[in-house]
Amino acid sequence: MKKPLSVYLHVPFCEARCSYCDFYSNVSGEKEVNEYVDRLCAEIKAFNKRDYIVKTIFIGGGTPSVLTPAQITRIFKSLKEFEWADGAEVSIESNPNSLAREKLETYLALGVNRLSIGVQSFDDKTLKILGRLHSAEAAVSAIKLAREVGFKNINIDLIYGVPEGEVNLPSEILGELTHISLYNLIEEEGTRLTENKDLTRKTEDEVIAEQTQLESVLNRAGFSKYEVANFAREGFECSHNLVYWLGGDYIGFGSSAHSLVNNKRFSNSNQLIYRKGSEYNRTEFDIFRERVMLGLRTRYGISGEFAEKVRAESGKELAELISNGFLKDDGENIITTEKGLQILNQIILKIL
Ligand SMILES: C[S@@+](CC[C@H](N)C(=O)[O-])C[C@H]1O[C@@H](n2cnc3c(N)ncnc32)[C@H](O)[C@@H]1O
Ligand code: SF4
Repeated sequence: MKKPLSVYLHVPFCEARCSYCDFYSNVSGEKEVNEYVDRLCAEIKAFNKRDYIVKTIFIGGGTPSVLTPAQITRIFKSLKEFEWADGAEVSIESNPNSLAREKLETYLALGVNRLSIGVQSFDDKTLKILGRLHSAEAAVSAIKLAREVGFKNINIDLIYGVPEGEVNLPSEILGELTHISLYNLIEEEGTRLTENKDLTRKTEDEVIAEQTQLESVLNRAGFSKYEVANFAREGFECSHNLVYWLGGDYIGFGSSAHSLVNNKRFSNSNQLIYRKGSEYNRTEFDIFRERVMLGLRTRYGISGEFAEKVRAESGKELAELISNGFLKDDGENIITTEKGLQILNQIILKIL
């Protein structure tokens, strides 16, 4: 029987670097991008696909939508060498600037059925602070165009906690969406935003108030939180991310892509001409630690042998966290409560 596998593809190109982002990506010319696509296709080709059936594919970045229809079509030709499961979830990350009708139609024709658009904010002043190239209006138009072309499963990324910024989420647009990734801004060392000391930072209480307000708008619009930063309408949870969080196998192609296959972890280096890293066998404790850390971020929590181990080895801490309303244990799953999600790192430290 074939084993389920998820596939991640990294596209390390952007039109410009945003002020807050330290993801690995480059602003490159056509020749460099074409050569990268060649390497990516060769890497996919070389992978032994025979034993696997692909359940989810995620093309992330960087900004994969900067690829031309011809380049993305080439990548999908390689991906089609895998056997895809019926109804496989196929996602691509994009931003409003680089989404034209032809590109969206190409995605649909290739089998992409989940579009993720980096919007970050619907306020033009905030978009400027973030160094984004698009306006709020362009974001709304991109979402509407994607719906018009036929996308039924659309995510947008938003960022709150931006100094002197706001998300300004228009509730009418929520009707067009099935999923929201709502990130708290991380001020990464060395980024332009972090270096800009003229901007007034929000206090911790102000950031929590902003988060609470946004989450209540999402709840009212029919989205449920199923992971610390992710909200979906029922049935639209991102299956690919659930594979990461709940412990399934995935293979990553491209620079800086990580893999977890047959209990082995490996990753590619983060250069355009990338190398394969060495394999690393996880110990029992590595697996346990990962499952606790990732599972407790989700509404599914931890279950089975992992929950048993927590009950057996950290029973006192678990009881205390439950009585303080940070965790729940229904006998099958140990789950973080809404209150617990605010102090998730402390909970994990107590349990591990
Ligand atoms: C790979 S990008 C998404 C696609 C596209 N590159 C874009 O930005 O529109 C992934 C997402 O990570 C989030 N992100 C990046 N840097 C962040 C930071 N420092 N703090 C919080 N979220 C961040 C943004 O919401 C961004 O949309
Ligand atoms: S947020 Fe997206 S578009 Fe901006 S630099 Fe990071 S990966 Fe590129």
